[in-house]
Amino acid sequence: MIEKINESKDFISNLINNQKIESMIILGSGMGGFEENYESLYQIDYADIPNFLSPSIEGHAGKLSIVSINEKLTAILSGRAHYYEGHPIQDLVIPIRAFSLLGVQNLILTNAAGGISDIYEPGDIVSINDHINLTGNNPLIGKNLDNFGPRFPDMSEIYDKGLQELAREVSKNHFEFKTGIYAWFTGPSYETPAEVQFAKNIGADLVGMSTVPEAIAAKHAGMKISAFSLVTNLAAGISKNPLNHEEVVEIADLSKQKLQGFMKEFLSELNSDN
Ligand code: HPA
Repeated sequence: MIEKINESKDFISNLINNQKIESMIILGSGMGGFEENYESLYQIDYADIPNFLSPSIEGHAGKLSIVSINEKLTAILSGRAHYYEGHPIQDLVIPIRAFSLLGVQNLILTNAAGGISDIYEPGDIVSINDHINLTGNNPLIGKNLDNFGPRFPDMSEIYDKGLQELAREVSKNHFEFKTGIYAWFTGPSYETPAEVQFAKNIGADLVGMSTVPEAIAAKHAGMKISAFSLVTNLAAGISKNPLNHEEVVEIADLSKQKLQGFMKEFLSELNSDN
């Protein structure tokens, strides 16, 4: 595994003339095209980067852009591969680990999710403050990569409290700030109403099919993480209507401006010197 990670890291390092990258953002459904807000210094398809998996679904481009924000290099990963596409979970986190070796300290994750909490409405943006891994899988299973972190890493604050405070401040200009706990299901089938009820009973506010493997690998590697869900629908059983992917994409598109406006300011603050 470490050979694959190093191969990806060396390839990107060559591409960007061995410069350090400060921050990284992974764009989920509803965030595609965000990279167009910046002038790309380098841009490349995942398909051309060794060991990067190309996403197979709509709304996930599979493109890496390197941009400069406040004079600090930032990697924008437009789209992600998901566990339900059939990849080994360890392969899904190769980009996280490769960028960790390239110097990335701050990671922002975005996704589309189903809302459980009574206070959410479709179109809301929620700052994730913890997660529940319901899949029984974990990207750290296998031989521990000691140069990233310990065998039994602490997960008591995966989503950095300081970054959550920053998000709260920045959100004042964009939307009502809401927080929540994200439960990871593998998908690709949406949850049943009973599964959503179960998730609610154990404390989840959101359900989704991504983000958690990346957050675990990044925390293991010592990154500061913040994650945001765009609530594209109320979860099964909370909503009276059947779920469909088209609706998820439609609501994501409608809320795009709001999330992107926030994210531009958030990244700028994140990369400022204070
Ligand atoms: N469940 C899981 N993933 C999702 C949902 C959902 O209701 N909406 C968007 N992504």
